[in-house]
Amino acid sequence: MIAEEQLRNLKDISYQEAGIYENTRFEKIHNVVFDDSNIASAIVAAEIAALIRKKQEENTPCVLGLATGSSPIKVYEELVRLHKEEGLSFENVVTFNLDEYYPMTKQNVQSYHYFMHEYLFNHVDIKPENVNIPQGDLDADDVLDFCVAYEEKIKSYGGLDFQLLGIGRTGHIGFNEPGSHYNSRTRLITLDHLTRSDASSSFLGLENVPKKAITMGVRTVMEAKRIVLLAWGQNKADIVKQTIEDEIDSSVPATYLQQHHNATFVLNDEAASELTRIKTPWLVGPCDWTEELTKKAVFWLCDRVSKSILRLTDKDYNDNGMEGLLAKEGSSYDLNIKMFNELQHTISGWPGGKPNADDTNRPERAEPAKKRVIIFSPHPDDDVISMGGTFDRLVEQGHEVHVVYQTSGNIAVSNHEALKFAEVAASLDGDNELYQKIITSINKNEEYVVDAPEVRALKGLIRQRESVAATRFVGIPDSQAHFLNLPFYETGTIKKNPLGQEDIDIMCNIIREIKPHQIYAAGDLADPHGTHKVCLDSLFEALKVLKSESFMDDCWVWLYRGAWHEWGMHEIDMAVPMSPDQVLRKRRAIFYHQSQKDGVMFQGDDSREFWVRAEERNKETAGKYHQLGLADYAAIEAFRRYYYQD
Ligand code: F6R
Repeated sequence: MIAEEQLRNLKDISYQEAGIYENTRFEKIHNVVFDDSNIASAIVAAEIAALIRKKQEENTPCVLGLATGSSPIKVYEELVRLHKEEGLSFENVVTFNLDEYYPMTKQNVQSYHYFMHEYLFNHVDIKPENVNIPQGDLDADDVLDFCVAYEEKIKSYGGLDFQLLGIGRTGHIGFNEPGSHYNSRTRLITLDHLTRSDASSSFLGLENVPKKAITMGVRTVMEAKRIVLLAWGQNKADIVKQTIEDEIDSSVPATYLQQHHNATFVLNDEAASELTRIKTPWLVGPCDWTEELTKKAVFWLCDRVSKSILRLTDKDYNDNGMEGLLAKEGSSYDLNIKMFNELQHTISGWPGGKPNADDTNRPERAEPAKKRVIIFSPHPDDDVISMGGTFDRLVEQGHEVHVVYQTSGNIAVSNHEALKFAEVAASLDGDNELYQKIITSINKNEEYVVDAPEVRALKGLIRQRESVAATRFVGIPDSQAHFLNLPFYETGTIKKNPLGQEDIDIMCNIIREIKPHQIYAAGDLADPHGTHKVCLDSLFEALKVLKSESFMDDCWVWLYRGAWHEWGMHEIDMAVPMSPDQVLRKRRAIFYHQSQKDGVMFQGDDSREFWVRAEERNKETAGKYHQLGLADYAAIEAFRRYYYQD
C-alpha cells in the first residue's frame, strides 16, 4: 500500500466550494473521480486517519459515522492496515453506524453488527463501549425510545466529526429511502423494493431480506461536520448523476447533500460515467478530441438527431457543441466517412481472423490461420451467455478453442436443484453414505449457514456437467473444457477472499499450457467487487507475469462484457454478427445451464432469464449498427481489444 503522504499528493479530495471545482454548470456537489477504487479508498482512509490523529493531539474523541455495504470495505481494510502497520490507534474513536436491518440479531452474518466487527472493530483497538450500532433485536415497543436515545448520544459528543456514506440505487443515504424528509431523525423505516432486491443475493433470496430497518435520519447525517460518499461501479452511475446534477428532491434523498457545506463524492470512472462532464464533455466546454472521444461524440450525435452517420450535417455538429471537432476534421463530409469506415471495419464474421485475406482493415490477424484460443469464463455459463455465437464460429472455423471456467459457481445452485441430483444418485445406490449425508445436510436447510463441503462439491459438479454438455453441443472435446476452481471464490458464502498468489499462479499455468493466440475474457466492470472483476484482475495479473514470454508476442486479448452491460458503441473493436439460426444455436447452448434457469438465485433486479437478456442485448447492438447506417444483422456480439504489452 502507498504511504499516507504520497496518497494525499496523488489526488486531493478535500472539499472545494462551488465555483472553484465547478467547471460545469451541471454539477451541484463536489466530487473527485478516480480510475482505481482501491486507491480512492486508501485516500479516504488517510483522511479519516489524519482526523483521528488530530483529535488525539487535541485530546478529544473522534466521532465517526460509519456505513456498511460493499462500498466502504476497502476503506475499512486500509484503516485496519494503518492500525497494524503504522500504529494508528482507535482509542479515542467513537463510532455511530448509520443503520441496521429490523428485525435482525447481532449474530446473523447478514447483520450490520456482524459486518462492522468482521471488517473493522475486531481488528483495531477501539473500545467496545465506544461502538454504537442501531439495534435490530429490540421489541417493537422499544424502538422509538432507542432512536431518541441514539440521537441524544450523538449530540452528547458534539455531533459527528466525519460521516462515511454509500448510496443506494434508490438514492438512499443510510436507509433514508425516497420520500424521507430533510428533518428526519433516527427512526424505523420500510425498505424500498429495489433496495431489498439489491440485497437479495446476500440473503439468498428476496423473501429473506428484512422489510424494515432502523436508520439515522437525513438531518442526523446532514449535521456531520464532514461527509464523504463513496460510489463504485456502473450500477451507481445513474443515481450518482441524478444526485449531483438534478434538483433537490425527496424522491432522491441523497440530493439533500447538495446543501451540505463540506460534502465530497469519491467516485470511480464507472460510477461517474453518466455525469454530463464525462459522458458528453462537448456540451460542457472545449474538448481534447482523441479518437475515442470523436467516435463517442459522433455516435451520440446520430442518436440525438436520429440520423445515420453519413447523413450528419455541419449544422448538426455545430448545434450540438461539436464545432471544435468540425474545425479539427475539416468538414462533416470527411468526418462522417472516416467514422463510417471505422465502424464498418469493426464488423467481422471471422473472429479468429480470415485466412488468406487482406487483414489490414480487419479486427483480427489472418495468420496463423488456425489459432489456439482460450475463452475465460468467470462462472460456468458466461462463455455461452456472453459470446456463444463467437464461440460457435471459432469452432466452426477450425480453431482450437479451450474454455477455461475460472470459478466453480457452486453458490448459485439452489438447494432444491442439488437435492434432485442427490436423490437420483441415492435411488441408484440407497446405501451410499455420502449421498445420504448430502441429503440430510440439505434437508436441514439451516438459514445462512455455509453449505457442507460435500454439498458444495455436488453443486460445483452440477455446474461442471452443465458446462460440458454445452461445450459438447458447440463441438469441442471434453479435454478442452478446463475447470480452475480458483481458490478466492471457495468460501461458500457471497463474501469472497481477495485475489491471492495461488489464483494468479493457476491462471499463469493454464495460459502457459495452452499458449494461446487469442484470449477472450469477461471485461465486466459493473460491480467492482464482484466475481467478474476479480476474475479479470486475475487475468491482468497473469498477463503482467507472462508478457515477456515469447509465445505472448503473438497473443491478442479480447474482452467481452458480462450479462448486464454491453460496451459503448465507441468502445467496440470487433463486432461479430449472428444470423437468426446462430441466435437459436446460442440459445440452445445457454439452455444446457439448467441450474441457472427458471428463477435463478442471483438474478438481480432484472427478472429476465439469462438467454433472454443475452438475445435482447445482442439484438440491440445489431440495431445500433443499423441505426448508424450499417447492415441490418439479426444480432451482434461485441468485443474490445485489451493491450497489455507496453
Ligand atoms: C449502509 C447504508 C446504505 C449503503 C447503500 C450502498 O450502511 O446505509 O445506504 O451505503 O445501500 O450499498 P453498497 O455500498 O453495498 O452499494
